[in-house]
Amino acid sequence: MHHDDLLHTLAGKTVLVTGGAGLIGSRITLRLRQLGATPIALCTLDAYPPHVYRDLFDVDATDPDVIPGDIKDTALVNWIMPRCDYVIHAAALADVAACTRRPRSAIGTNITGTQVLLDAAAASNRLQRFCFVSSASVYGNGNPEDWASPTVEARTVRGLLEAIYEGRTPPQFAEYAPLKPLSVYGNSKAWGETQTALSLGAVGISYTVVRYFSVYGEPQTIKPNSHSWVVAWFAARAALGLPLHLNGGGRQIRDLIHVDDIAEATLRALVAPVAHNQTLNVGTGTATSIRAVAELVRGHFPGTVFLETPMPPGDPLGGYASTRLMEHVLDWRPSITIEDGVARYVEWLKNTPAAVPDWLEESASAR
Ligand SMILES: NC(=O)c1ccc[n+]([C@@H]2O[C@H](COP(=O)([O-])OP(=O)(O)OC[C@H]3O[C@@H](n4cnc5c(N)ncnc54)[C@H](O)[C@@H]3O)[C@@H](O)[C@H]2O)c1
Repeated sequence: MHHDDLLHTLAGKTVLVTGGAGLIGSRITLRLRQLGATPIALCTLDAYPPHVYRDLFDVDATDPDVIPGDIKDTALVNWIMPRCDYVIHAAALADVAACTRRPRSAIGTNITGTQVLLDAAAASNRLQRFCFVSSASVYGNGNPEDWASPTVEARTVRGLLEAIYEGRTPPQFAEYAPLKPLSVYGNSKAWGETQTALSLGAVGISYTVVRYFSVYGEPQTIKPNSHSWVVAWFAARAALGLPLHLNGGGRQIRDLIHVDDIAEATLRALVAPVAHNQTLNVGTGTATSIRAVAELVRGHFPGTVFLETPMPPGDPLGGYASTRLMEHVLDWRPSITIEDGVARYVEWLKNTPAAVPDWLEESASAR
C-alpha cells in the first residue's frame, strides 16, 4: 500500500498520545482527528500556564478525549491502554535545563512514567505499535573519530570542537552512532529507547523510536529558565527589543524541524510496515548554526542586538540528522525550510501577543 494511503488506515483507530496537550502532542492529535482517528490525550497540562494550552495550543481540557492525568498513575494507564490500537509516547519533562535542575523529576516522568506505559503496553492484546518519542540529544556531541576529514584533524575532542567552531565540518548523526548523552534529559531518553526495545521486544509488540531533532514552529512558547527552543526565544526577545543571547557565540549546530513536519513523520512512523522495531532520526538533514537562526530572526526585527553569553551546562555543540533511513522507511521528507518556518513563526507571534510570556515582558520593562 502507498504510504499516503497507509495514514488513512488510522481512521477509526484509538491512539493514546501521552503529553497530548503539549506543543507536539496537540499537533499530532489534531492531525489524527483529521484522519478520522480517535486520539486520547493523557497529559498533566502543567508545563505551561492554562492560557497557553487553551488559547495557543487550542486544547479543550473538558473534551472527553483529553484526560488530565499523569503517566506515572498505573491505575489510570492500565484503564486507558486496553482501548488503544496505538500509542505515541510524547510526555516528558521536555526541557533540558529543567531536567538538569531537577533530575528526580526527570527520572519520575521520563523513566518511571515510561515504564508504567511499557508495562501496560506489554500486557495489551490489542496494541499494533508503540512509538517512543526520543531526541537527538542522545547523540550529545557524537564520536569525534567519525568526523575526521582531510581538511580537519578532528581526532581529538578539542580538534572536533575547533572544527565545529570554525564551521567546517558539522557532524552528521546517523542512527547507528554510539549514544553519548551530555545531559540528564538526553540520558533519560537514551534509557527510554533501550527500555522500549527490551520491554516490547520481549513480548513481540511492534515499536518504533523517533529521534526528533530541534522542533520549532507556531504555537511554541518559551519556558522560564530554559535554553531550549531557540526560534521561540529569539523571536520573543526580538519582539520586545531585547538583545539575543548567543550562548558560546552561537556556533552550536542544530537541525531545526517544523512541528508540522514532526507530526507527519510521527504518524508515518506509526503505520509504516518497515518502521517495525526501528529507530529513526526525524530531522531535515540541514545544519543551521544558532547564529544563523539569530540572523534570520533579526531579518524580521531590524536593529536587534546580539550578546555573547557562556554555554549553559548540558548544551551540546550538536549536529544535524542523517535522513537516509527516515526517507526510506517513511517514504517522505520534511517540506518546511528554516527560512519559511521562521517567517511563519514571526508572523504568528506578531499576531499573537499572548505568546510572549508575562515574565519576559516584565524583565524587559525592568531594564
Ligand atoms: N521540542 C523539541 O525540540 C523536542 C525535541 C526532541 C524531542 N522532543 C520530545 O517531544 C516530546 C514532546 O515535547 P514538546 O516539545 O511537545 O514539549 P511540551 O512540554 O510542550 O509537551 C510535553 C507535555 O507532557 C506533559 N507531561 C509532562 N510530564 C507528564 C507526566 N508525568 N504525565 C503526563 N503528561 C506529562 C506536559 O504537561 C506537557 O504538556 C517530549 O517527549 C520531548 O522530549 C521535543
